[in-house]
Amino acid sequence: MSDLVKIATQDQVRQILMNRPEKKNALTLTMYQALTDALLAADEDPDVRVIMLGSSGDSFCAGNDINDFIAAVNRPDAIQAPLLFLQTLASLTTPLIAVVPGMAVGIGTTILLYCDLVIASQQACFQLPFARLGLVPEGGSSLLIPQLVGHRRAFELLVIGEQFSAQTAQTLGLVNWLEAPSSLTERAWLEATKLAALPPDAVRQSKAMLRRHTQSQLEAVLVAEVKQFAARLTSEEANEALLAFIQKRTADFSRF
Ligand code: COA
Repeated sequence: MSDLVKIATQDQVRQILMNRPEKKNALTLTMYQALTDALLAADEDPDVRVIMLGSSGDSFCAGNDINDFIAAVNRPDAIQAPLLFLQTLASLTTPLIAVVPGMAVGIGTTILLYCDLVIASQQACFQLPFARLGLVPEGGSSLLIPQLVGHRRAFELLVIGEQFSAQTAQTLGLVNWLEAPSSLTERAWLEATKLAALPPDAVRQSKAMLRRHTQSQLEAVLVAEVKQFAARLTSEEANEALLAFIQKRTADFSRF
C-alpha cells in the first residue's frame, strides 16, 4: 500500500486518508488504485462497520492530478483506475462518512455523492469546474447532482462551476453537518462511532435500500461519462485550460 493513502482502524471504524497534502491531495492513478484497494478491503472486513474517508493537510482533495490529465491524452487506459474507484464507491455496502476540512474540487466533490454522511469544516469550499476546464461532468454527477438539486442549480454547479461555500453545500444537501475546523476530527470520530454502535445489518440493508433505485442507472452513466470525459481530454479547449493551470495563468477560450 502506497503512503499516499493512510489507513487506521479504531472502534470498528476504518479511517482512510488521502495523503498528498503538498498537492492538496490531488489524485494520481496510484492513489485511485490504493483507495480502491483500501475501500474494498474495508468493505470485506466483518469487523469494519463504518468507513471514514478523510485527508491529510488543509484540503480534502483538489480533484484529479492535472499532470495526469495531460498525460492521459496519450494513454487511453488511464481512465480505468478512476472508473474502478468510482464503481467501487458506488458498490460499497458499508456506510461511508466523508470528513472535509477544506477544498474539494472536481472528483473531490463528486466523491461526496457516494457518501452516506458528510461532515465539513465551516471553512470548506467546493467546486465542480468541469466545463470551465473544457471537460464534462464525471463521477456520476450528471445523474446525481440534478437528482439532488434539480436542473437549473445543477447547470450552475456543473457548467458555470464556480466555488461554493460549506454553508451553500449544506443548503444543497451535499453536506450533513458543519463543524469548526478545530473540532472537525473529534466530531467525525464521534459520529462514526455512534453509527458503528447501531445494529450493523439493519444499517447496511437500509443503505442498500436507499441506493437501490439509482444504482441500476448509475453503472451505465459512469461508463458513458468516462468515455466522453476521455474524449474531451484530447480537445483543444481542455488542452488550453489544463496548460493554463500548469503555467499558472488564466485560460483564454476566445479563439474557439
Ligand atoms: N493537480 C496537480 N497539482 C495540483 C492540483 C491538481 N489538481 N491541485 C493543486 N495542485 C498543486 C499546485 O500545482 C501546487 O503545486 P506547486 O506547489 O508545486 O506549485 C500545490 O498543489 C498547491 O496548490 P496551490 O494552487 O498553490 O494552492 P491554493 O491553496 O492556492 O489553491 C486549489 C488550491 C485546490 C484551489 C488550486 O490548487 C486548484 O484550483 N487546483 C486545481 C483543481 C482542479 O481544477 N482540479 C481538477 C478538477 S476536474
